[in-house]
Amino acid sequence: MATPKLTQILAGASMSALGVAVIRAQETARTDRLYADPYAQVFVDAARSAFLDPAAPAGSADTWERVETLAGRFYEGRTVGVRLADDRVRDWVGAGCRQVVDLGAGLDTRPFRMDLPEEVSWFDIDLPATFEFKEPVLERAGAAPRCGRHVVPADLSGEWANALAEAGFRPEEPTAWLGEGISLSRDSAIALATTITALSAPGSRYALDRLAVAERDMRDLERLVREGRSTPVSARGLPDGERWLAEHGWRTEFRSWDDLVAGLPRRWTTGNPEIGVVLAVRV
Ligand SMILES: C[S@@+](CC[C@H](N)C(=O)[O-])C[C@H]1O[C@@H](n2cnc3c(N)ncnc32)[C@H](O)[C@@H]1O
Repeated sequence: MATPKLTQILAGASMSALGVAVIRAQETARTDRLYADPYAQVFVDAARSAFLDPAAPAGSADTWERVETLAGRFYEGRTVGVRLADDRVRDWVGAGCRQVVDLGAGLDTRPFRMDLPEEVSWFDIDLPATFEFKEPVLERAGAAPRCGRHVVPADLSGEWANALAEAGFRPEEPTAWLGEGISLSRDSAIALATTITALSAPGSRYALDRLAVAERDMRDLERLVREGRSTPVSARGLPDGERWLAEHGWRTEFRSWDDLVAGLPRRWTTGNPEIGVVLAVRV
């Protein structure tokens, strides 16, 4: 039976992608929405029916409830974060960038939902399990990307550059690297930044979040993710990313979160000038 299998596919890190899809579906349903993702609800419906199916493995309904609870706790900051990343993509593409790599793309659908020039080459990288769920749902929904889209199933804490090259990535072209919410250890985060640097032609752009998530929320998210097969825990990543990038051939600028949201119709501020995004350009 297909349904119980879905709950197994979505175990582990991919569960966090589901949480963000719940957030995007809720945002899309608002009249004052910051963006519209018509596929978010489709993912949520597909996952919810699998987790709440009486034939699903024991504990599935409880897992789904925790996904929704966590989505509620992360909602305000994450949904504004999606909009900020959308605006960043618009800026990058508007500035002429024609190659975008979404690191840990999850269930995001920017190549489908954003008005991108068709000559853009967009690469979605995520764990194979995420695409095992994502691609059939998009196909059933009849979704068609507006630009070139390439799916790259790979583990970003291991070797992934070959898979990206095989998907058609061109390192001689300037690239925009987008990464939202990937949980990596410090060593893996440095290895990731090293590979990104090696693959980045001059003029490439990289946005690195400097976040502060409440301890309780991070603990619960890690617990949800750790219960699955794949276990990229310790979301601490690269807290000194700005210095690392500056020392490795990037020009960096830090923009605080509160500064970035000042122009949005919904202001969810942090009051902490240390939280924000490092915007880097490869020199
Ligand atoms: C919090 S979700 C965010 C997803 C997406 N960026 C969004 O905003 O909707 C984190 C994503 O990172 C992916 N991820 C976590 N560890 C990964 C790894 N080692 N390699 C590839 N993807 C990973 C998860 O599968 C998940 O889709």
